[in-house]
Amino acid sequence: MTDQTPDQTVADQHQPLVPNRTVWIDHFGDLDVIALSERPVPQAVDDEVLVRVAAASINPVDWKTAAGEFPPKGADQLPFALGRDLSGRIEALGTRAHNMRSVGDRVIAFIGQDRGAQADYVVVKAVELVATPEQIDDATAAALPLAAMTAWQGLFDHGKLEAGQRVLIHGAAGGVGHLAVQFAVWKGATVFATASGRDLDYVRSLGVERAIDYKNERFEDHATDLDLVYDTQGGETQARSFTLLKKGGTMVSTLGPDEERGRELGIRTVPRWHAEPNGAQLAQVAELVAAGTVKVAVDRTFAFDQVREAYAYTHDEHPRGKVVLSMQGE
Ligand SMILES: NC(=O)c1ccc[n+]([C@@H]2O[C@H](COP(=O)([O-])OP(=O)(O)OC[C@H]3O[C@@H](n4cnc5c(N)ncnc54)[C@H](OP(=O)(O)O)[C@@H]3O)[C@@H](O)[C@H]2O)c1
Repeated sequence: MTDQTPDQTVADQHQPLVPNRTVWIDHFGDLDVIALSERPVPQAVDDEVLVRVAAASINPVDWKTAAGEFPPKGADQLPFALGRDLSGRIEALGTRAHNMRSVGDRVIAFIGQDRGAQADYVVVKAVELVATPEQIDDATAAALPLAAMTAWQGLFDHGKLEAGQRVLIHGAAGGVGHLAVQFAVWKGATVFATASGRDLDYVRSLGVERAIDYKNERFEDHATDLDLVYDTQGGETQARSFTLLKKGGTMVSTLGPDEERGRELGIRTVPRWHAEPNGAQLAQVAELVAAGTVKVAVDRTFAFDQVREAYAYTHDEHPRGKVVLSMQGE
């Protein structure tokens, strides 16, 4: 018999007595502020679960957050942990999570800015979790949440993309872009896509109408009469793309659109938006991956202790698709 009261968590009984390596920022700066710190293992209470993280991916927002650029965080919010998406196994359950999940379940999560996914242990609300299909390994699962929700919500919720429409996707070999291309092809759209020359064959293999070398070709010469531009670059790339849209077409950008230009040209712009956790959408994407319809490009997986190298590689080496941290060895 224990003295546990009904309000205490089951997690209390199984609290792992190990260091919880966490990517931890105690001041803003370049990549050199990114380091592992040993933090206490958090406790799952009520409707939360404790996840033993197997893998977490790196997204541009991680180094933007570390630099204090985006999302805007003040010095009063330091220190904090980094990372938005993870895969792993449930280690312990809060008292009200029992009817939703079981210890040992393999799960994927897209977590909020208030926590960090790049850690050995993370507490997540049970409703935020999606079951990992058995066909998907941990690195692939961890590569999905933020990039996939950005691609899906940008194309379908904001861009209203439909079968038969023509869409131009910029950055088609990137973390977001390679998934956006595959979702648009799956939907039945005609897809034009920009990428670096070395990625063109890969992008062609995803089923696009035309893969365009953004460094050596003018995308204006190959993609016209568009219903949707899915922009991941902003700046000049976005500015040049507006005139390729039909009147009444839509500009969706992961970095926000030039709304005034849209008004001038009769183009619908979607005000700056951010990908949101959505369990139903993530589960649908996971099923597409499990079925082999969508293939996640994991460029490289780094052991968690190599987190600095992993960030530098992601930031500087132009990976194709995603870079993943493996908490349990490479
Ligand atoms: N709003 C949101 O919720 C949201 C969510 C996720 C991401 N984002 C933002 O969206 C952007 C893309 O994210 P990501 O994860 O896909 O980044 P990523 O993995 O770094 O991919 C960016 C891709 O863009 C390509 N690229 C660079 N310059 C280009 C150009 N002029 N024209 C066409 N392609 C070009 C790069 O190719 P090379 O490396 O070969 O040059 C790379 O493949 C980032 O700025 C990120 O912060 C926003």
